[in-house]
Amino acid sequence: MSHSPSKRLNQINQHINMTNTVSVFQEVPQAPPDAIFNLTNQYKADKDPKKINIGVGAFRTDELKPYVLPVVKKAEAILFNDETLDHEYQPIAGQKSYTNAAVKLILGKDSPAITENRYAGVQTISGTGANHTGALFLSLFYNKSKKCYISNPTWANHRNIFSLVGFEVENYAYWNPETRGLDYEGLIQSMRDAPEGSIYVLHACAHNPTGVDPTREQWKGIAKVMREKNLFPFFDCAYQGFASGDLDNDAWAVRYFVEQGFELFVCQSFAKNFGLYGERAGNLTIVTKSTEEAQRVLSQFEKLQRSEISNPPAFGSRIVDIVLNDAALYKEWTENLKYMSTRIIEMRKALYNNLIQLGTPGTWNHITDQIGMFSFTGLKASQVKVLKEKYHIYMTENGRISMAGVSTTNVDYLAKAIDDVVRNVN
Ligand code: LMR
Repeated sequence: MSHSPSKRLNQINQHINMTNTVSVFQEVPQAPPDAIFNLTNQYKADKDPKKINIGVGAFRTDELKPYVLPVVKKAEAILFNDETLDHEYQPIAGQKSYTNAAVKLILGKDSPAITENRYAGVQTISGTGANHTGALFLSLFYNKSKKCYISNPTWANHRNIFSLVGFEVENYAYWNPETRGLDYEGLIQSMRDAPEGSIYVLHACAHNPTGVDPTREQWKGIAKVMREKNLFPFFDCAYQGFASGDLDNDAWAVRYFVEQGFELFVCQSFAKNFGLYGERAGNLTIVTKSTEEAQRVLSQFEKLQRSEISNPPAFGSRIVDIVLNDAALYKEWTENLKYMSTRIIEMRKALYNNLIQLGTPGTWNHITDQIGMFSFTGLKASQVKVLKEKYHIYMTENGRISMAGVSTTNVDYLAKAIDDVVRNVN
């Protein structure tokens, strides 16, 4: 088939016009890479055999391998052999057996919210999804304040999540660099100064990144001021079972707030405590004043969920469902959790002992005092930079170490590298 010369000319002109037009994406600015996951990419690309990844909060065995919990393997086998299973859609808010078990896990089976039937649970895309869905709901239905307070420092994603749904996000004082502990007075003062009804994002246990939690007395003080100022408690609980190794102990703050009559949200992640990072199994627990309110709130969550993910993914939540609803598997899970939390505590001691032996300037007892996955070392950004460039050690700029990346084989090297930068880098 041959074209007339004028038709061909038209086609060429059209093509030139198309390629000359300005892209509709021309104004899109480059976003910075994610502070945590970019470290993993850099670590993977590094060819040095001594490299260490203490960036992302993901558990590793002492051989620095990802850990599939033995109880998870058992649940997988049950799923695999279940002839009745199919791949149909899940209910929009997730299976009730899963969400109810998740709610019970965090609130405790005798919680007044459960016995009085004034709660709801929504399956979410892990803890991040719970944060997002909860924040989105509040941006639409919570009218007391458009201010949301996150701790300083905090998990990098909190600011993104709340600001992207339209909240004005501010920091509340949390970390005191002098004491390397909680700035309790600063925290209380920020609550007193916050506008009535503001939202406070609180880490239920194993604060990320500092590893510093309020004591029970301090939690009581926090609840008192929050009550006086009608602040809304938005708990983020990504490490239940990781902080103390005891699931009930780690849920204490949330349960105390419920006992005190607060309405609240709790974001739950099963990434860390089940090792189900990539499966994105999470839950948002909602506590209200009445059954009727819980039902209305849940109906709105279902509407939001439908527009965002339609129905939650099934694989990870089925594993959690099986384990939480079987007494023997649940017990085994607590043992698997104990192994993980104990290994982390041992690595804290090993790093501390190495630094003390080296006589590294400064005090280091905060490494063993802090709890959960992370240690907030107090190392400066300049020192973190040298750790990466000279020693191939990857950690976040704020001086946070994921203790799960420390092992009996790399702790000497890590301590010597820290010793060097503390002495020689300002
Ligand atoms: C972390 O803080 O390293 C983890 O919670 C991973 C994440 O999602 O940021």
